[in-house]
Amino acid sequence: MIEPGTEIAPAEGSLGILLPGLGAVSTTFIAGVLLVRQGLGTPIGSLTQMGTIRLGKRTDDRAPFIRDFVPLAKLDSLQFCAWDIFPDNAYESALRAGVVAPELLEKVRGELESIVPLPAVFEKRFVKNLDGPNQKSGATKRDLAEQVMADIDAFRERSGVARMVMVWCGSTETFQARTAVHADLASFEQGLDSNDPAISPSMIYAYAALQRGVPFANGAPNLTVDIPAMVELAAAREVPICGKDFKTGQTLMKTIIAPGLKARLLGLEGWFSTNILGNRDGEVLDDPESFKTKEESKLSVLDVILRADLHPELYRDYVHKVSIHYYPPRGDNKEGWDNIDVVGWLGYPMQIKVNFLCRDSILAAPLVLDLALFLDLAQRCGMRGIQEWLSFYFKSPQTAEGLYPEHDLFIQSMKLKNTLRHLRGEDLITHLGLEYYD
Ligand SMILES: NC(=O)c1ccc[n+]([C@@H]2O[C@H](COP(=O)([O-])OP(=O)(O)OC[C@H]3O[C@@H](n4cnc5c(N)ncnc54)[C@H](O)[C@@H]3O)[C@@H](O)[C@H]2O)c1
Repeated sequence: MIEPGTEIAPAEGSLGILLPGLGAVSTTFIAGVLLVRQGLGTPIGSLTQMGTIRLGKRTDDRAPFIRDFVPLAKLDSLQFCAWDIFPDNAYESALRAGVVAPELLEKVRGELESIVPLPAVFEKRFVKNLDGPNQKSGATKRDLAEQVMADIDAFRERSGVARMVMVWCGSTETFQARTAVHADLASFEQGLDSNDPAISPSMIYAYAALQRGVPFANGAPNLTVDIPAMVELAAAREVPICGKDFKTGQTLMKTIIAPGLKARLLGLEGWFSTNILGNRDGEVLDDPESFKTKEESKLSVLDVILRADLHPELYRDYVHKVSIHYYPPRGDNKEGWDNIDVVGWLGYPMQIKVNFLCRDSILAAPLVLDLALFLDLAQRCGMRGIQEWLSFYFKSPQTAEGLYPEHDLFIQSMKLKNTLRHLRGEDLITHLGLEYYD
């Protein structure tokens, strides 16, 4: 375990952010960083840019910005590198995604145009509804991994970055269960040589990143680094990893509301969630096999928060349904509907309706930024392997074998902030507060 008040290497030089997938989320993230740098936007939703952290007693009045409390890379020091099956540069891709207004994109057009995606490692079997011409070819999956490592080395050389992190912002891959090839690093490496079908493209990028000592975060629900082979590699290379699946729209709301119901011991009979989405992500999720990966990720949160095993009379038989409909007219502007059938005193039923008109990539972009900066911090602190303190950002947080993940957003937030306090040797905050009444 990292000691309290551990030595943290300074964030000197630039930080390279490596992005497999240059679609709506990546380009909204990059354009946002470029606009904020020029004072043309505010990084709303980003804890690293706008969040504060309370220190000491409530009477101490100490609540610095997180960015002043821990040494994070500055936005001015960020550089970007991406891969995609489509050759569109970041400006073209951002225009196509239609999230950030064209007049704003125009202001950072030159910088966006300079980000041209490298050929991708791609296998259509894993993303059935997409295909594009910008792909690598190689006789084996090992060859492909080596090509990604060469890309990483070339980017480091050409950009002069001091450190890098990789955040998977590529499409959701089809559902995959763990197999023997994922069980340990030796089997995985044999699988790279024998083109094992259970090694997906996202795993190839992750393997390349970890081999190069680059921390990895997974923004999609694919297994990717959530397999023992990658955990072993992350430990061997002393690199932090985390995932899976950015927690944005409907699941974010679910993990805000459900802890409240549970805290007040209100029962649940059912939670029906449906939404419409018209972007490329929606098109990919229209394939039932990709949706299954997403569904597993979305369904698990309630069970863990509500703990029917401890409260069978409140939560034993609730029905939980989640669906996503691809509906092109809405583009990236998702609309979600939730009907929650709750039960109160003496069993009387009540209903809660939530209608969230959100913007998917606007919610996801700050998470990419925070994950990149916090993973870089973790690396400079000597933290390695699974970073459970970053669960705050994920629908399916990766945890050590045998541990259930925390889904309650407020527990996740407390865990994150207490980790930062621990790193700085500050007292952890328990919210006990009895001392104020002695
Ligand atoms: N936006 C959100 O709120 C949100 C929330 C949770 C998870 N996610 C996930 O984040 C990911 C990105 O979302 P998005 O809205 O930007 O989707 P998008 O479709 O706009 O972008 C994904 C990009 O990845 C590319 N791609 C697919 N396979 C690739 C590969 N093997 N290598 C390189 N590029 C590849 C696609 O061509 C596409 O351009 C998706 O997996 C999505 O499920 C998004």
